[in-house]
Amino acid sequence: MVKKGNIIPGSFPRIETDRLVCRILEPHEAALMCRFRIQNREHLEKWEPLRRPAFFTESFWQSQLLNQIRYFREGISANFSILDKKERSILGVCNYTNIVRGTFQSCQLGYAAGEDAQGQGFMEEAISSTNTFVFNELGLHRIMAAYMPNNNRSGALLKKLGFRKEGYAKKYLKINGRWEDHILTSVLNPAH
Ligand SMILES: CC(C)(COP(=O)(O)OP(=O)(O)OC[C@H]1O[C@@H](n2cnc3c(N)ncnc32)[C@H](O)[C@@H]1OP(=O)(O)O)[C@@H](O)C(=O)NCCC(=O)NCCS
Repeated sequence: MVKKGNIIPGSFPRIETDRLVCRILEPHEAALMCRFRIQNREHLEKWEPLRRPAFFTESFWQSQLLNQIRYFREGISANFSILDKKERSILGVCNYTNIVRGTFQSCQLGYAAGEDAQGQGFMEEAISSTNTFVFNELGLHRIMAAYMPNNNRSGALLKKLGFRKEGYAKKYLKINGRWEDHILTSVLNPAH
């Protein structure tokens, strides 16, 4: 069992917006994430990789959240959960992964809103703040995001957030068991 004491308090970002709290969850909060994943299983399956049955269990999320904390400490990724102000439920996630330093200073963004949380501007509110954190605190230069050409909603969200189209990649990601074309976009650190 993972103990709360494994985590150094105060060493992880907690980003508050008008309606949301975005933060990296701790392993003892696995049930919250497990509930989000079970509730949105059908809603998200056509936009995400195939998930094994274990993905919908609390024990999977206990170890996954511990990994996410390790990845943040090691500068590999920043996996944010987007919670309501009372922090009782997860409204969505935005994950900054594959952080590369050196001459690239870039990462990839993936995100998902819960079915009932869509259409209220939560994702725009969350990602505009977490992008600011990634640029200002992590000092990255470029955030990249890709969406399937038929995912108009995702394309509209990225446009609102200032992402620009950069290309079209054939069979770019394996989504729901099939290699799917994606539109590639990115946003640059405005301070650079
Ligand atoms: C993509 C997603 C995160 C967007 O969530 P959201 O911010 O709540 O999206 P919204 O409903 O506010 O829509 C964002 C924009 O798309 C527009 N939009 C909404 N539904 C749309 C539709 N069916 N077709 C085209 N545009 C649409 C809205 O007009 C909105 O722009 P506006 O605020 O200027 O009006 C969410 O739909 C989701 O999680 N989908 C499933 C998983 C997924 O697609 N992940 C991303 C993979 S790249």
